Amino acid sequence: MIVYRTRDDLTGHLNSLRSEKNSIGLVPTMGALHRGHTSLVEKAAAENDVVVVTIFVNPTQFNDPADLEYYPRTLDRDLEMLQKLEADLVFVPSVKEMYPEEDERVFDLDSIDKVMEGKHRKGHFNGVAQIVSKLFLLTQPDRAYFGQKDFQQLVIVRRLTEILNLDIQIVPCPIIREKDGLAMSSRNERLNREKRKLAPFIYETLKLASEKKEDLTPSEVKDWVYKRFDKAPELSLEYFEIVEDKALKPISDWDEGVNKVGCLAVHLGSVRLLDNLNFD
Ligand code: PAF
Repeated sequence: MIVYRTRDDLTGHLNSLRSEKNSIGLVPTMGALHRGHTSLVEKAAAENDVVVVTIFVNPTQFNDPADLEYYPRTLDRDLEMLQKLEADLVFVPSVKEMYPEEDERVFDLDSIDKVMEGKHRKGHFNGVAQIVSKLFLLTQPDRAYFGQKDFQQLVIVRRLTEILNLDIQIVPCPIIREKDGLAMSSRNERLNREKRKLAPFIYETLKLASEKKEDLTPSEVKDWVYKRFDKAPELSLEYFEIVEDKALKPISDWDEGVNKVGCLAVHLGSVRLLDNLNFD
């Protein structure tokens, strides 16, 4: 495994690998790796000749400076983990390396960046589009791997490749959960013991909500979820939506011929957690 810190060193190596007809799988991360990430690396290794993992806490996608400051950074542990997996190249750039000058690009993402996460974290997806487009152009992978926990991000990255006309296959990877159902996330590390015990409530609620489909309309299910969170004052529900999986429009009828996903964001103390579940 080789760790690169500069764009030139990384692209030099990738160009020679590409000229030898190696396929390249990219796993973009912000570090603080967990089993969710290792599943992405394993899938990338199974489907490509070369796996590139990037570790970069991208400042332009944080709209809350405190969130950026407290985002967990565990580089030594991350590199140890990647060493044990089949990661070939790891790219760990500095902010200056990725943003030698301010990135002023504004992406038109057809409003799928304005709902749910986009509504509550202004500018977040433009920042994601900035860094992901840079990483795509730099590494020119055949495939790029994204976890379904960040479902809206996955939809946006797909749209981004269309907008930029990039021939990259975006590979969605299933959410990996703890035994009690909590979706794996780097932010889970910031939950203290007491808050961690409360966190499974989130997935439990999603599962129960999906079962309510038999008796309730989508908007009644939404009300039911809000009421359930009202009874759990430690967990503050920021949003819950049941959307179709392309334009991310809320559905009003179970019979609409679209794939349906229930998505939510919850504050548990100072930690913001996301989860989603297929509602088909
Ligand atoms: O999902 C993440 O970890 C980040 O949003 C990504 C895709 C690495 C871009 O910074």
